[in-house]
Amino acid sequence: MSESNILEISGLTVEFRSGGRWITAIRDVDLTLAPRQCLGIVGESGSGKSVTALSILRLHPAKSTRIASGRILYQGRDLLAVAPGELARIRGSEIAMIFQDPMSSLNPVLTIGEQIGETLRIHQGLNRADALAKAVGLLDMVRIPDARRRVAEYPHRLSGGMRQRVMIAMAIACRPKILIADEPTTALDVTVQAQILNLLRDLREELGMSVILISHDMGVISEFTDKIAVMYAGQVVEQAVGDGLFDAPMHPYTSGLLRAIPNIDRDVDRLATIPGSIPDAARMVPGCRFHPRCPEALESCRSEAPAMIDLGGLRQTRCPPRAERQGMIGGRS
Ligand SMILES: Nc1ncnc2c1ncn2[C@@H]1O[C@H](COP(=O)(O)OP(=O)(O)OP(=O)(O)O)[C@@H](O)[C@H]1O
Ligand SMILES: [Mg+2]
Repeated sequence: MSESNILEISGLTVEFRSGGRWITAIRDVDLTLAPRQCLGIVGESGSGKSVTALSILRLHPAKSTRIASGRILYQGRDLLAVAPGELARIRGSEIAMIFQDPMSSLNPVLTIGEQIGETLRIHQGLNRADALAKAVGLLDMVRIPDARRRVAEYPHRLSGGMRQRVMIAMAIACRPKILIADEPTTALDVTVQAQILNLLRDLREELGMSVILISHDMGVISEFTDKIAVMYAGQVVEQAVGDGLFDAPMHPYTSGLLRAIPNIDRDVDRLATIPGSIPDAARMVPGCRFHPRCPEALESCRSEAPAMIDLGGLRQTRCPPRAERQGMIGGRS
């Protein structure tokens, strides 16, 4: 494991049982996360973003899921190999996760303070009074106004944005080193979305956390992350740091996602979408998984599964520029 990474996922392949057989949901996923970095994972619905994130804390339904291969090194230890008790400790206290729908994760019959307090009592052994006092401080940190009063309220009294702030307060209660946010703002309107993403950015700096931000929205990813992995049909197809992906996208799928970003200067009615849809995991296409939708596909793309090519400087792609591809396959197509 490289000293410079807090998390390293390598060769991760996850399968689900469906109709008596095992279906591969993600295959050979490699990702790294550096301290204080915000890694963005982007891709259309069904591309494998959540399966990848849930694997880190082994939150999949145990009976119908198997991790067929791979390692998830957290500070040098393989999370796939740690005992359940140790994993439960890491979950929440060192690696925390927030999801799209805060209401389904909040308990409707407990006050906000009781719920945040519960996390603190379990993980930090605080008594009820101390936990409640700390909960007020956490609500302040996530910028919920009038925290002292709000701490006694029930979740249904709060707006969607406020509920997501409560979830973030619970997630950061034990000062985790990594926060995984899976579509944290997808259910919120655009202004609230920006407030929550700004809050996550500020907290990352204040607490020195690393963040994995998952979104299908390339606009969100471009603004809030400093390294980006593009997923398609269960695989990472391209990766870059900084603006590398936007300045010079290499994979035609990435280019398609970029064309679909709404732009003030562009007529929204004419927003480009990528024709077709992601292949079904149970009937994965041979060759490059994107070839049926790819405007640049060569004959070889139908049969030869492209390997990830490392271009140095944390730049990787499964599809080098066309000229190089034609050179690489020796003019066979
Ligand atoms: N528990 C499960 N059982 C069976 N298949 C699953 C399960 N969870 C996910 N899958 C399959 O794994 C693939 C990847 O799903 P995943 O939820 O990771 O996509 P996603 O990129 O998070 O999409 P979205 O943007 O809709 O959240 C899909 O084909 C999905 O149907
Ligand atoms: Mg998802």
